[in-house]
Amino acid sequence: MTASFIIRPATAADLADIMSIEHECFPTDAWAEASMRDELTATHTHYYVLLVRDNASGTDSVQGYAGLSKLTSSEQSDVQTIAVLPGNRGKGFGRALMNQLLQTASQQGAKQVFLEVRADNPTAQKLYESLGFKVIDIRRGYYQPDGVDALVMSLDLPSVPANREPIVLGIESSCDETGIGIVRGGTLLANVISSSMDLHARFGGVVPEIAARAHLEALQPTLHKALAEAGVSLNEIDAIAVANGPGLAGALMVGVGAAKALAVGLGKPIYAVNHLVGHVGADVLERGEVEVPTIALLVSGGHTSLLLVRDLLDDVQLLGETIDDAAGEAFDKVARLLGLQYPGGPEIDRAAAEGNPKAIRFPRGLTLPKDMEKHRYDFSFSGLKTAVARWVEVARDGEEEFSVADVAASFREAVVDVLVTKAVNACLDHNVPRLLLGGGVVANKRLREVAAERCAKHGIELRIPAFSLCTDNGAMIAALGAQLVMAGREPSGLGFGADSTLPVTTVQTA
Ligand code: KG4
Ligand code: ZN
Repeated sequence: MTASFIIRPATAADLADIMSIEHECFPTDAWAEASMRDELTATHTHYYVLLVRDNASGTDSVQGYAGLSKLTSSEQSDVQTIAVLPGNRGKGFGRALMNQLLQTASQQGAKQVFLEVRADNPTAQKLYESLGFKVIDIRRGYYQPDGVDALVMSLDLPSVPANREPIVLGIESSCDETGIGIVRGGTLLANVISSSMDLHARFGGVVPEIAARAHLEALQPTLHKALAEAGVSLNEIDAIAVANGPGLAGALMVGVGAAKALAVGLGKPIYAVNHLVGHVGADVLERGEVEVPTIALLVSGGHTSLLLVRDLLDDVQLLGETIDDAAGEAFDKVARLLGLQYPGGPEIDRAAAEGNPKAIRFPRGLTLPKDMEKHRYDFSFSGLKTAVARWVEVARDGEEEFSVADVAASFREAVVDVLVTKAVNACLDHNVPRLLLGGGVVANKRLREVAAERCAKHGIELRIPAFSLCTDNGAMIAALGAQLVMAGREPSGLGFGADSTLPVTTVQTA
């Protein structure tokens, strides 16, 4: 059975667990329960965290804790205590607990942190030294009853200028791309993607279990490549951002686990962000901001969504989405029935170049007046896919020669027509003069042409970020994370999980 460890803030309800560890770790000089209770309840001056083992069976147990006090009027903090049960020592948990305290001290404005350590505990001294603490004093016979000296150590916390742009590392694993991106504020430093697309090719679509396993294998190398490309070390990262949904649950879980491990290990804040809003956030990297209000059309193998964004961090609304297949999925499925390779989008684009888009009039899903009432901004592509399948079947049964190019062009025209019509309607209905495109289907040549034509006709400004920022990538996640950091948002707690159906209205999961 696997267990995972998390660090979370302690409350008075954890007193009994803490006291049992206190007695086990400090048999001769354990704190009295009443003193510990005072520490846990004085939340304005004290900050305690727990190391908790979370067993797959659903039970959890406290394995360690650490506490910090800060005089509200001063810039000095004291590490009050730290303990890890013997069975879990030597695994870096002490460092993770300390990092969490130091990060909190820094966030609360402390400039200096002090601690005392037993002179006969070289292991702890080494840990503190490696974190940058220096011995500044010795208190003779401080620890009673055994009369052991205390070494007083201190650490100067680097003062972070308030206006410095944060370096944020973003992790994306919602579908088949493992993406690691690094940004400094609104500037792109690295965008490395490892795709498992080839592994899915013979299945004609993404296989969730294969994608999840591929993420596990790709994460470390992708991370190292991104750090090298950005020219930064892990210690220079100010915050971690991760897409925790929507997407494939197992795939998301890999990215979320890795992000939490990095955040805890490095003692950095973590921001759980929405994958779809990340697509919109990608525009920050080209323009320094996302101009609002904007309509965003996100079209990929996994999603087809129309958003109204009035504020990137606070006001994202879902106008509509596909009620069956995603647009990219439709391309993939139709390519398959035409005998073309996966992924189908580029193949259909290529075949369609030679075809006549008006050769066959395929249905435009959810565009009839009766559908437009209830589903004005929703999409449906499964009827179109069936229509293409039926058309091909009839042609083959009749042993007619038919032009794959004409079918591809006519199918593509139907998809593009619906996508652009609904997106432009959304702009006009909401009086929003901007349209932003995102997702892998944006590579489609015809989509770009038709969007450009119709936007120009209606005075709508069309934004299409570079293709490497349109497909799923970590840079867009990092960019959205950096916007949250710069807006002074609190990091997410470590309790969040992967949420395959995360709504777009949740830009950041607390
Ligand atoms: O954003 P993306 O890389 O992420 C996933 O959904 O995984 O999108 C991939 C999707 C695939 O379904 C692919 O067929 C589609 O984008 N796609 C295209 C084109 N290039 C890629 N669809 C239409 N035309 C294209 N040229
Ligand atoms: Zn996506």
